[in-house]
Amino acid sequence: MKFFIKTYGCQMNKYEEGIIRRILKREGFVPCSKPEEAQVSIVLTCMVREHAEKRALGFINSKGRGIRVIAGCMAEGRREELEKYADIVVGPDRYRELPSFIRESILKKEFLLKVGTDGEVYEDIFPDTDSSVSSYITVMRGCNNFCSYCIVPYVRGRERSRSVDSILDEVARLAEKGRRYFILIGQNVLAYGDKGTSFSKLLNMVTEIEGVERVSFLTSHPKDVSDEFIDTVAKNSKIVKYFHLPLQSGSDRILNLMNRKYTVAQYLEIINKIRERMPEAVITTDMIVGFPTETEEDYRDTLSIMEKIEFDFAYMFKYSERPFTSASRMKPKVDEETKRRRLKEIISLQTSITHKKLQQELGKVYDILIEDSGSVSMGRTMNNRQVYVERRLAPGKFYRVKISKKTGWKLYGDVFN
Ligand code: 5AD
Ligand code: SF4
Repeated sequence: MKFFIKTYGCQMNKYEEGIIRRILKREGFVPCSKPEEAQVSIVLTCMVREHAEKRALGFINSKGRGIRVIAGCMAEGRREELEKYADIVVGPDRYRELPSFIRESILKKEFLLKVGTDGEVYEDIFPDTDSSVSSYITVMRGCNNFCSYCIVPYVRGRERSRSVDSILDEVARLAEKGRRYFILIGQNVLAYGDKGTSFSKLLNMVTEIEGVERVSFLTSHPKDVSDEFIDTVAKNSKIVKYFHLPLQSGSDRILNLMNRKYTVAQYLEIINKIRERMPEAVITTDMIVGFPTETEEDYRDTLSIMEKIEFDFAYMFKYSERPFTSASRMKPKVDEETKRRRLKEIISLQTSITHKKLQQELGKVYDILIEDSGSVSMGRTMNNRQVYVERRLAPGKFYRVKISKKTGWKLYGDVFN
């Protein structure tokens, strides 16, 4: 049987797409690249905002063929509501059983709902991914933080870490096949822990594996950033100087309602420490506008902190009310038009900051690790900036470049070795 997978959402889902591919291929299912040819259509869904849900349902409605499977976060969060869209609804912790669910669906011809979380980490399954230079590696799954706007703890369950051994084993196998750049992922990687191994220690261990050139990590909760962690990143030349630190709001009152467990002042202190130790660090963030009760003043605090910090990039969102969350019960809500205006303004502010930051890169010299090769090749700097070179270069190899031009959002470089 041929299967097709369409994936929405975060890097976690992207990684788990590889897990599903491996599980299905082992049982004789064959991947296909066109949804029309599939006998099994799988959509890996995200539930973090309403928009993500609409896109996933739109896909399965218009392109789903054969046995239609809804997997991922919506499966857990929407359950029987999905009966009209799918033959099988399978939650993020039950992918191992997917081949048998497909057989069961064919035999019984009835709707199957297979959800529930039981601490799955898939540590013995190596995801099936396209060969390239970089690889995501899941180190932990789930979340215990319960930020009041966020659905993740309800659909992905509690925090649990993979064993150090299984992580190192996966990295070693991939490095042997030519991967050079590893991105350790988890809802909050700083919550990682396995038998006394902290995330800092794990990072160092990964960099010691033969063939590993660079290691980065996503996402870190600001409340868990310690001096020891900053020190680890600063000292190890193979750890990428890139921090994605979601701030969410510039107002302490809103941060408190969001249950983020830090203040703007504490967040600023972390940024200052990082920049002191690593002036070249790239720092990005996530921001939400229009959280319930957000006043014009709260929102202006968000704008002014963004002007002050000058993030290299920010992912910015309108607050989207999510089932189960405590923010969904907070009042008053911010009206849609205000949310839209605030989002537009904040994006325009950040866009000008991002361009300014990119402009400042002109003339700088970096060793870039090539990921994509073609008439234009793309490589990354040690602080995770993408640099394009108008030449065919060897993937997995380093080249020294000088940043020579900026067009739109892209930086170009000239090779000089
Ligand atoms: N509404 C809008 N944005 C959200 N995010 C998470 N939940 C919501 C929500 N209900 C954003 C946060 C988070 C990112 C992954 O998505 O900024 O960091
Ligand atoms: Fe990822 Fe969260 Fe979306 Fe699930 S809901 S795909 S964990 S961003």
